[in-house]
Amino acid sequence: MNHRLRIALYQPDIAGNTGTILRFAACLGLGVDIIEPAGFPLSDRALKRAGMDYLEMAALTRHVDWNAFEDWRKGEARRLVLLTTKAASPYTEYAFAGGDILLFGRESAGVPDPVHQAADARLTIPMQPNTRSINVALSVAMVAGEAIRQLG
Ligand SMILES: C[S@@+](CC[C@H](N)C(=O)[O-])C[C@H]1O[C@@H](n2cnc3c(N)ncnc32)[C@H](O)[C@@H]1O
Repeated sequence: MNHRLRIALYQPDIAGNTGTILRFAACLGLGVDIIEPAGFPLSDRALKRAGMDYLEMAALTRHVDWNAFEDWRKGEARRLVLLTTKAASPYTEYAFAGGDILLFGRESAGVPDPVHQAADARLTIPMQPNTRSINVALSVAMVAGEAIRQLG
């Protein structure tokens, strides 16, 4: 495996968020894994509008389902780091490593329990009481930013 960080999106629902994340990843040189099915076709206009011409530069890998993603990941011996509102450990206290895959859940429902349990670590972005969640693309930017800061 190469030692670049990767961002994985579990069954994303909202095309504009995925386009924003693909643009961000292209700008920072991060690979992106989309674990299908997605809630929109990858030809979606909203995805293209948010991703603009950066989509052509995005290092995107599509996996037909969770099992296919896991087979690939285990073959690459990469750690899976899940970002979820249902964890206690703050992402700022985690020691990221090159090659980590940062996994983000779908906008409507996060990830199911088996995916939660498959992760090597489960981290959260601490929030104010009575708030539910942060936009997934902003979550990606915060956590990838911290991982890049640590790894240089
Ligand atoms: C809109 S949120 C999903 C909300 C969903 N209703 C749930 O209960 O998980 C989409 C994704 O953004 C990430 N996310 C949003 N806020 C987060 C937080 N405070 N800590 C960690 N991840 C967060 C997670 O990966 C989450 O699955």
